[in-house]
Amino acid sequence: MNQNELKQLVAQKAVAYVQQNVAAGQIIGVGTGSTANCFIDALATIKHHIKGAIASSDATQARLESHGIAVFDVNDVVSVPVYIDGADEIDPQGNMIKGGGAAHTREKVCASIAEQFVCIADESKMVAVLGAFPLPVEVIPLAREAVARHMSELGGQPVWRKKSDGTPLVTDNGCHILDVHGLHISEPLALEIELSMIPGVLTVGVFAQNPADLAFIATKTGVQEILY
Ligand code: 5RP
Repeated sequence: MNQNELKQLVAQKAVAYVQQNVAAGQIIGVGTGSTANCFIDALATIKHHIKGAIASSDATQARLESHGIAVFDVNDVVSVPVYIDGADEIDPQGNMIKGGGAAHTREKVCASIAEQFVCIADESKMVAVLGAFPLPVEVIPLAREAVARHMSELGGQPVWRKKSDGTPLVTDNGCHILDVHGLHISEPLALEIELSMIPGVLTVGVFAQNPADLAFIATKTGVQEILY
């Protein structure tokens, strides 16, 4: 099985999970990225089971709507039973690095109103310690260089994320991304709190205050289920 087939497999598992564990007529939270896209496409097959979704990015909103799934403003939703999303890395405690798709601010907001965070990923995302994947940090444009200097002082190597044409990537929130290389994140919660306090940081891609509650991990021999 190639990586795309693993993503399809875990997406189908997550859809079966929604069908079996979420009461009919609820709004669910949906993440961003290639694994989340597989989930959205599979979710379309049971779309009448749910009332709709909250979306963690403009891209996810567009994909949900293309399948005829109603998308609700997060401001109008108090809580959702489940938030389903991929990850760039996940450690043995369910802490994650997210933001490879530049959507981690809205992902964190959606996850914060979810009763349960279900991470869907293939086995390449499982790590002993977070940090080999450069940590995405969303910053307001004016603060980019000040935050970058702060990251360097902490031992990281920040790289301003650009698009393939060389222009700066601008997030759905009108902000920029620093990808911080070289961090060995042995204390994810402490790092998430520390970095979140730097002026100009919108959101750091460490998910430790609100880690995964459950993960479906696609392996070549099937889907592993991990409860944290
Ligand atoms: C987007 C994310 C994604 O969940 C993460 O990048 C994983 O993406 P993919 O499923 O494409 O590997 O955090 O901001």
